[in-house]
Parts: sequence; C-alpha cells; structure tokens
Amino acid sequence: MSATNPVRIVIIGCGSIAKGGYQPRCLAYPHLISLHGYFDQNRAAAEELQKVAGAGKVYDSIEAVLADPEVEAILNLTTIAGHFPVTLAALKAGKHAFSEKPISISSQEADTLIREAAARKLKLGCAPSSSLGYEQQNVWARIRAGEIGTPHTVLGSFACSRLECWHPNADVFLTNGVSVAADATPYPLCVMTTYFGPIARVFGFARNVVPERTLQVGPRAGTAFTPTIPDHVIGMLDFACGIKGMLYAGWSGQSDFPRLEIQGTEGAFSVHPHNDGMGIRLLSAKTHDIATVPSPAKSFANALDWGKGIADFADAIRRDRRVRCSAEQARHIVEIAERFNESTRTGLPVALTSRFEPMEPVGEVAPWDMVQAAARN
Ligand SMILES: NC(=O)c1ccc[n+]([C@@H]2O[C@H](COP(=O)([O-])OP(=O)(O)OC[C@H]3O[C@@H](n4cnc5c(N)ncnc54)[C@H](O)[C@@H]3O)[C@@H](O)[C@H]2O)c1
Repeated sequence: MSATNPVRIVIIGCGSIAKGGYQPRCLAYPHLISLHGYFDQNRAAAEELQKVAGAGKVYDSIEAVLADPEVEAILNLTTIAGHFPVTLAALKAGKHAFSEKPISISSQEADTLIREAAARKLKLGCAPSSSLGYEQQNVWARIRAGEIGTPHTVLGSFACSRLECWHPNADVFLTNGVSVAADATPYPLCVMTTYFGPIARVFGFARNVVPERTLQVGPRAGTAFTPTIPDHVIGMLDFACGIKGMLYAGWSGQSDFPRLEIQGTEGAFSVHPHNDGMGIRLLSAKTHDIATVPSPAKSFANALDWGKGIADFADAIRRDRRVRCSAEQARHIVEIAERFNESTRTGLPVALTSRFEPMEPVGEVAPWDMVQAAARN
C-alpha cells in the first residue's frame, strides 16, 4: 500500500475515548489514517480535537459528514445508543465504518449492519482491538505452537471500579444496552474468541448488585440514577471447539479474578486482555512455578493501542481484505451478553446461533509497522 494514500476518516463522537485514546493513536499511523475531521453533537468537543490535531474539519451535522465526498470512512465513538444509527447511516451513505463496542444494542441490529455493509461492499469493523496487541498475538502464537500443550480452559474478567466514581456519563452506560457484559467484557471475550473461536452455549447469572448510584465526577456530579441493565455477570462458556471457560464482569469493584488465563495440559498463560506491555506469565502444570516470560520487544507501553484496529481497518480498505476486528465477532459478543440475560431468566444454559470466522493472526510485519519496515529495507 502506498504510504501516501491513507484512508480519510472522520471521528463521530469526540468524548473521553476519542480524546484520550483514539485521536493520539490514529495520528501515530499517518501512513494509513488521515483524520479528515470531527463531529460531535456537542460542537465544542469536536473543536477541541481539531485544535489538538491542528488540522481537519469540524462538521455541523452528521448529514454534512456523510455528504462530504472526501470522507471515506467514519470512526463511531459515540456512546452505545449512537452505535447502531450512526454506523447504519454511514453505511447507507457509502462510507466504511468502524465502531466502538458494542457494535449495537441487539444482535438483530448487528445483523442489519453486517447485511448493509456486505450489500454495499463496504468494510465494517468494531472495537476492541486488544487482540492485536503484541503480547496478545505472541501468546496466541505460542498456544498454537503447543507451548502449553492442549488448551482446555480459559478464564477471564473485566471487573472495574464503580463506573459512577470515575466516568462523568456513567448513567448513560448503565441505562442503555444489554449489560456490563456487552460493554466491558468484550475485552476478555474478544481475545478468548480470537484464540478459540465462537462459543456454542453459555450459562449465566446477570444481576444488579449496586442498584442505586450517584455520579461522583464531572459537571453532573451529585446526580442520582438507577441502573436499568445488569451491572454484574458471572458466566460459564462452552466453546464450539470444546474449550470451557468462565467470565466475571462487573462495574461494582476491582477484582483479582484472572483477567485472562489460558490453561493447557502442560501449563497456562496469563496475559492482560486489554492492555499491551503488562507482561506474560507462564504457570507450570507440573510444578508450583509461575514465571514471567519475555514479552515481544515492541510491546506497547502498558496500555491499549487504540489506533491498531483502525490501522488494520484502513489497510483492509486499501487491500480489499477482511478487517481483523470484525463486525461478525462483535455481533457474537453482543449475542453472548444477550444469552447471559436469557440464561438468568430461564435458569438454563442457552445456545448461541451466531458464528464468525476468527481473524488472521497478525504476521511478522503488521500494517502499523509497515512504515518502519519500509524504512529499514
Ligand atoms: N471512556 C473509556 O474508558 C472507554 C474505554 C473503552 C471504550 N469506550 C467506549 O467508547 C464509547 C464512547 O465512550 P466515551 O467514554 O468516550 O463516552 P463520552 O460520553 O465521554 O463521549 C461520547 C461523545 O459522543 C457524543 N455523542 C453521543 N451520541 C452522539 C451522536 N449520535 N452524534 C454525535 N455525537 C454523539 C457525546 O456528545 C460525547 O461527546 C462508548 O461506547 C464506550 O463503551 C470508552
């Protein structure tokens, strides 16, 4: 791909994660991504990002973004209620789209998006991109190489401190969508399903353990709200490939439950499902040893590189190949959250209907490394 032909992308939704995560990391891959402009229903938020970049347009409306023939793709960083309508509008306008997770509130909506993208031959991708981390890819390669023998079990969690204590719009997250499992557990679920493919059935307990909350930060601090979606989920996972798993998720407090642990007959790997550069541990199956093993030299510094998913998406547009962080995998993860709720209601394990083709492992030279590789040659 030509280093002079980056994909022109507009960020829609210029809040916390656009500012602190995506914008700086998209700007880190100028050979693939050109941040063409910004739109937010709160214009000041879009203007702030434009000021940081020192370039790009600030649009007055989503219609103006979608009518701009220069715009090739949108990056949907709105909150959950905006994911489906904004992505659908973009696809209908002929723009490629990459969304923050969850891809939509329901798996039926995700089906609609996938059909629309396919019909129009557009690329559709969805966060999280944590499976693309150097450490997450490295562990996957070592599992495939047999380093822990035959994998049989995977444990994961996303247990975050109470959302209202650190997010100014916590009420939006806890009153929209399916549950904490749709918004927060995509991190461990995404890496688990990247390694082991789709889940055939789940058995879950979805509850609300902190039923009354009050925003502690931001301009609306002091506002009380009542979550309307489960804030706490414990789920058992039965993968189609035969692997069994367990997930712990909550916006109710920190936990030491493994964030991601893959157990095999010869040992186990422990790796962060979200951040890169946090280290890889190898747990012996035959002794009591737990060792830190070397991480790939390039591991990102103790954080998620939000730009990698977009860099891969842009590369997929230019090469007309599959997007690694696929809409199909994102739909499967929404369905898992829905089935946890169903299982809670029925008290029974529930089968999943969606399937997806796991991503291609990232090769020796990743799209985001291409400029450096070209410079070395
Ligand atoms: N904050 C985090 O730590 C974090 C981490 C990972 C993922 N995410 C995901 O990123 C998304 C955004 O989260 P955030 O924390 O940045 O939220 P936020 O509330 O800080 O920002 C969202 C922004 O989107 C704008 N917006 C909402 N609907 C819109 C619409 N229809 N059109 C235009 N603008 C719209 C809002 O005005 C706001 O500026 C969420 O889906 C969240 O799950 C957030």
